[in-house]
Amino acid sequence: MNIFINQARTLWEIDELAQFSADTAPSVKRIVFSEQDMRARAWLKKLCLDAGLALREDAVGNLFARWIGTHPALPAVATGSHIDAIPHAGKYDGVVGVLGGLEALRALRTAGFVPKRSIELILFTSEEPTRFGIGCLGSRLLSGMLGASADESLHDSAGDTLKVLRDRAGLSGHLNTVRLPQDAYSAFVELHIEQGPILENEGVPIGLVTHIAAPASFRIDIQGEGGHAGGRLMAGRRDALCAAAELILAAEGAALESGASDTVATVGMCDVHPGAVNSIPSSVGLSLDLRDTDQARRESVQRRIEAACRVIEDKRSVDIRCETINADPPAQSSPTILRALTAACEQEKFFFRSMVSRAYHDTLFMSRIAPVAMLFIPCRGGISHRPDEFAKAEDISAGTLVLARALATLSSEV
Ligand code: HGY
Ligand code: MN
Ligand code: MN
Repeated sequence: MNIFINQARTLWEIDELAQFSADTAPSVKRIVFSEQDMRARAWLKKLCLDAGLALREDAVGNLFARWIGTHPALPAVATGSHIDAIPHAGKYDGVVGVLGGLEALRALRTAGFVPKRSIELILFTSEEPTRFGIGCLGSRLLSGMLGASADESLHDSAGDTLKVLRDRAGLSGHLNTVRLPQDAYSAFVELHIEQGPILENEGVPIGLVTHIAAPASFRIDIQGEGGHAGGRLMAGRRDALCAAAELILAAEGAALESGASDTVATVGMCDVHPGAVNSIPSSVGLSLDLRDTDQARRESVQRRIEAACRVIEDKRSVDIRCETINADPPAQSSPTILRALTAACEQEKFFFRSMVSRAYHDTLFMSRIAPVAMLFIPCRGGISHRPDEFAKAEDISAGTLVLARALATLSSEV
């Protein structure tokens, strides 16, 4: 089957979608349920309807665009990703998987392909943790990794709960209707930029993801004692920011000494109170992002960081509380789907290589209810979550073509 990927249209759509942004180009910011996100969703829904797909939106805003196959009662084959974007982001993260997925379906229809299993494009709500502090909100609810209590337990920095924001976005259903059964899909495949340098460094256009690293994130609150920066002598201070500084370096050290380069630790947020130049910090709030391909190793690094907290508490007479936001197991790709992707690369004579995903993705949670796999395309310099994020047209087309061929194979198997 000859499949034509309409590269010009896909690139135009990527640029169009980038316009729905709260940042000035080339920076993209599209926070879930923001005005920009709602306009982008409406724009995408029209694209899906124009492509002849049947649309469904669930109670948290996950969007499902289905190409009904000749055997509609069978578990469908799905693909998809996200369009929400953190502040100062680029225009390819997630978007390549949504618009590339849409293009794969359109190209198969144009090629005259008729799927036995339905093929569904999924737009997952809130893959980024920006608004609610936890990543992959939509796919966690879909897969049952998060329950309806999230409506009240999750809120944004303005104090608006998920429930309030869902209502405001016109999503009135009950959150417990989001969960899908274990056999909703026979396969889920996500196309995504690598967000790392390996494919570009090796000059390989396709990465087949065999494992997705296990992400964990924590909120750490350090309570010391404030005071006048001039009048309070150094002896006996209980400076919360100095304690935080030691803890941040301890987290870095624990990751570096884990015995594997797959262990990564990042403190990306630091709130200092009262945050005045001439006032000793009395309290500090930190975020800690900890990941590893090996869950046990990640947990041992976590224990080392917790032990460092105890030492710092004693040394500096501060109080340190650590709250786990999420601690997820890793995911392994399905050999069946990897075979379909490999066959597609071989048919198109694309070089490819197996690799690990160090970023998490909705695929991590879809793996709880379906066989999954991911395919990566290169991004320039491995850069992502930055306005200069970039993927080459030919790589986007190659990834879309491999995805289309794999979806055709997987939806023909009954
Ligand atoms: O943080 C991540 O891994 C994803 O890009 N949200
Ligand atoms: Mn991202
Ligand atoms: Mn992403």
